Amino acid sequence: MPEYTAGSVSNADVEHQYEEYLMPIWKSLNVPVKRASNCVLEDFDGNEYLDLYSGISVTNVGHNNDAVVEAAKDQLDEFVHGCTYVHPHRPAGQLAEKIARITPGELEKTFFCNSGTEAVEGAIKLARKYTGSKEVLALEMSFHGRTLGSLALTGNTSYKAEMAPTINDVSHVAPPYGYRCQRCSGTTCTATCAEQLERVIDTHTSGDLAAVILEPVMGEGGIIVPPVEWIERVQEITHDHDALLIADEVQTGYGRTGEMFASEHFDVVPDILTQAKGIANGLPLGAFTASSDVANAFESGDHLSTFGGNPVTCAAALATIEELEGGILETARANGKWFESQLEELEAEYDVVGQTRGLGLMHGIEIVDPDDGHGPMGVSPAPDPVLAGNVAKRLRKDGIVMGVGGFYKNVLRIQPPLTIGREQLDRTAEELREAIQREVA
Ligand SMILES: Cc1ncc(COP(=O)(O)O)c(C=O)c1O
Repeated sequence: MPEYTAGSVSNADVEHQYEEYLMPIWKSLNVPVKRASNCVLEDFDGNEYLDLYSGISVTNVGHNNDAVVEAAKDQLDEFVHGCTYVHPHRPAGQLAEKIARITPGELEKTFFCNSGTEAVEGAIKLARKYTGSKEVLALEMSFHGRTLGSLALTGNTSYKAEMAPTINDVSHVAPPYGYRCQRCSGTTCTATCAEQLERVIDTHTSGDLAAVILEPVMGEGGIIVPPVEWIERVQEITHDHDALLIADEVQTGYGRTGEMFASEHFDVVPDILTQAKGIANGLPLGAFTASSDVANAFESGDHLSTFGGNPVTCAAALATIEELEGGILETARANGKWFESQLEELEAEYDVVGQTRGLGLMHGIEIVDPDDGHGPMGVSPAPDPVLAGNVAKRLRKDGIVMGVGGFYKNVLRIQPPLTIGREQLDRTAEELREAIQREVA
């Protein structure tokens, strides 16, 4: 047995090594994991947790899904690394063909990389090459990654402090955050809210626009779902300016919202679609896909990656898609709808639940202070990040793991493996009710 697997290890041992030898990172959940299966995590001290976060929306077909593990193992036996652009191999070709079939509209050609951030960076390069323009518009409160290019697009100062300058030529526009939108005053954003794009283009850019990038459902920003008319208007304005619409589906793709891709809910076909996270159920793979017309703007050597499209990760992705199409997606859609009604009940019962929102199995619960009616935009009650954190901590003690996020850090995030059952979702709703009850008492 190799030294690193020998002997008994406790949670404290792993935490100690993290403290001493990893650079400081944000420990959002503090649940060390020894092994995982479907929706259950086990730590080194033998505790079990129901996982409602999927390693941040990644293990969509369940932790250690048998078919995915098997496919990866088979490919490991065959060969591990071929470098996609030196040695063409079957898994990358097969996966690219499959992605052309499952992505909306005419999206046809894919570039493989290793992560969501890289997919975003590559998509921006492609948009620049295709349009011959430079500037990019992103949404305030968005998240697109933490490298200097993707960080420039991310609409949140807290990720950038002390690390600027990032790339230039990026402007931001208000997100479709109806609950805190000054224009529609806390209701639902409309096409009129999207008109702001024109103003930002006129006032903040030189007009040399290459792309508008958006998350079809904003994940890190707090599970913000745009209305159809808002997103349609954004696309119109983008195309009126001869720019490309990039849908960043790193978090929403591969079944998370109840469709294979969230863009399908809005019937809006983006010009470039980025993917990562759930694509290979936990093996590191990123991708961006465009129509042949757009994709062929890249000339040989314009963009390359040594590990991107690795045969093992591509084999895992093919198995992941097969699992999703084999019934998981359909069941998740129905379970997500049912769970939504449970959350709506919670919103009606507790003043501290300002809003519940989501699609499929991507849900957010916005926790507020009902006694403070003046939220950040002067609309809706103030965010209560402390209460949100306390509810999550209490749930963790009771063996349930969920995320806390959102621009104001007051949104409980529920993004479980899509294989989660009704019984587990029912338990989640009950334990949430109890945790909120006890924390507000
Ligand atoms: C929408 C979106 N884009 C990009 C990223 C960055 O992906 P990665 O962490 O794989 O680089 C994330 C990660 O949370 C994301 O949610």
